[in-house]
Amino acid sequence: MNDPVASAETLRAALDGLLDGLPPRQAATAVERLIANYRGATPTDAPILRDRADVAAYAAYRMPATFEAVHAALEAFAEAAPEWAPGSHVDVGGGTGAATWAVSATWPGRRPVTVLDWAEPALALGREIAAANPALRDVRWQRSRIGAALSIESTDLVTISYVLNELAEADRATLVDTVASAAQAVVIVEPGTPDGYARIIEARQRLVEAGFRIAAPCPHSAACPIVPGTDWCHFSARVSRSSLHRQVKGGSLAYEDEKFAYVAAARFPVVPAPARVVRKPQIRKGQVLLDLCEAEPALARTTVTKRHGDLYKAARDADWGDAWPPAE
Ligand SMILES: C[S@@+](CC[C@H](N)C(=O)[O-])C[C@H]1O[C@@H](n2cnc3c(N)ncnc32)[C@H](O)[C@@H]1O
Repeated sequence: MNDPVASAETLRAALDGLLDGLPPRQAATAVERLIANYRGATPTDAPILRDRADVAAYAAYRMPATFEAVHAALEAFAEAAPEWAPGSHVDVGGGTGAATWAVSATWPGRRPVTVLDWAEPALALGREIAAANPALRDVRWQRSRIGAALSIESTDLVTISYVLNELAEADRATLVDTVASAAQAVVIVEPGTPDGYARIIEARQRLVEAGFRIAAPCPHSAACPIVPGTDWCHFSARVSRSSLHRQVKGGSLAYEDEKFAYVAAARFPVVPAPARVVRKPQIRKGQVLLDLCEAEPALARTTVTKRHGDLYKAARDADWGDAWPPAE
């Protein structure tokens, strides 16, 4: 299943199934409790996802969004490495397996996949949901604690999605170094907040020092041109809202935008975008203003007008997060 829309729909149907038979108010209460826990002090000494109700709530509420964010990061990576596909995948802190769905939506076919997490109920539910996706039937769901003792078998791709946030600083550094020595490619995704960006920049630096090249979002592997504290690099992925979302968040919008920060890096040669659109393009009469991160490296605003012909058409279609100019 490599059609991303079909994957998202299959995932959604499997997640809806989880809540069947659960009174809607009970699911909403579990989500509210989880949100409160996540707002509290993380890292924690023990898993936040303690039982099936916690995990079902997490999966139904968050998995569609983490899937879309990871999928967007992987697509940007795939554009920078069009000839490459992972022959194996390890998802660290994988929980219910959103990243495994995103990998199989990006690169078709089956491959050995291992999901590592310390929360047994999350792994059990991940396995249950994955039964709906033929590419994920043989995934190994393995209980494992991230820390100094973590060992990761050699693999093509490691994903770490929405996990660094839950780790102490020393464990974050050790984890990035451990995956750097085990993987050919590493994709890390965090919430699109100033803190999420700071964790991504720290990890990016460690990956570069370990010999990786940055494939996306940056057009280069040099230092990030953002002056710390003045801004943060992040992107946005559109997610259809489920009825559970509407219940917890109120309102009737059919979608919401998941903000995320990410880095994708590889040991093998990659061709990063010449530049990337780092804010929502501003469309004015006869012109489009694009905020770009360029290979120089520098942040710059460029104005594309009708006089630019086809490039102007492309600019009108450009989205926040796209490579610029678009590939032929
Ligand atoms: C916010 S969830 C993200 C899950 C999944 N990667 C996703 O994108 O939907 C964070 C995950 O990290 C796991 N985790 C946090 N600290 C951990 C640790 N020290 N060892 C192993 N797993 C950990 C949690 O159990 C949880 O499944």
